[in-house]
Amino acid sequence: MKKIRKAVIPAAGLGTRVLPMTKVMPKEMLPIVDKPAIQYIVEEAVRAGIEEILIITNRGKGIIEDHFDHAIELEQRLEASGKLQMLEEVRRITDLADISFIRQKETKGLGHAVSCARSFVGNEPFAVLYGDDVIIGEDPACGQLCRAYEQFGKGVVGIKEVSPEQILKYCSLAVEPLGDRLFKVSDMIEKPHPDQIMSLYSILGRCVLPPEILDIIDETPPGAGGEIQLTDAMMTLAKTQGMIGVDYTGTRYDMGNKLGVMQATCEVALRHPEIGEDFREYLKSLAATL
Ligand code: UTP
Repeated sequence: MKKIRKAVIPAAGLGTRVLPMTKVMPKEMLPIVDKPAIQYIVEEAVRAGIEEILIITNRGKGIIEDHFDHAIELEQRLEASGKLQMLEEVRRITDLADISFIRQKETKGLGHAVSCARSFVGNEPFAVLYGDDVIIGEDPACGQLCRAYEQFGKGVVGIKEVSPEQILKYCSLAVEPLGDRLFKVSDMIEKPHPDQIMSLYSILGRCVLPPEILDIIDETPPGAGGEIQLTDAMMTLAKTQGMIGVDYTGTRYDMGNKLGVMQATCEVALRHPEIGEDFREYLKSLAATL
């Protein structure tokens, strides 16, 4: 089975759940301490062995492109003032991976965003890392899914059990355990009604898909919210070819909702080499007043 070399990061959504912050600033650029969310996602893909990345953006998200580009004036200033460690850090962002960008011209849903990657994907399987889902862990989640694809030769979804309230807002999967955090996935439904729930397992943030998914998306009519849903296309794949679910290790932070942003910020700050200790003391003293 061929190694997964390519990844697509859809980052063209409107981010309405984190308004007004996202009126101008893309949610993928929200900071987690000192790096924007999308940098953590690119770093995860790179650690998983991905060589080429396509980020799907839209109007007003040029700031994402700028973040991964050289900032010549800044680099010259850092060099001249001898701030070499910071210079190296700033340059490292540009050299992280071979990153390209394409615009989704209309916000027609996650499925539609992925279909914008057709010429980038070509005839290879590819990973999808949702631009607002940051997953932090020792073993990159994307790599865990790529290994499952290479093992089974089928589309793979990253899954987690969620609460009965959350499942109504996400998607619900029909799963059968295969052992070792792996599952057979035979069906799924986006934003189920209570009587359509098949399990509390939902797809959270990552998948690895065969190139045929792009033809399936083209045939998929708009679904929940009037958007072309990736879940609807993956449902066809699951029903016809079967898919694999990986209950990945690592903590997922939903940067598309306000609580998720705060959880990511607090937990990453606690482990941060520069401010971790001071932040822990601050948090303890704050907690004592609650
Ligand atoms: P979401 O459904 O969470 O994005 O999509 P959204 O539409 O921005 O969210 P709300 O409900 O308005 O707050 C998950 C990922 O897919 C991207 C988003 O940028 C996000 O990273 N996406 C979504 C696109 O690239 N294009 C779309 O048309 C929709």
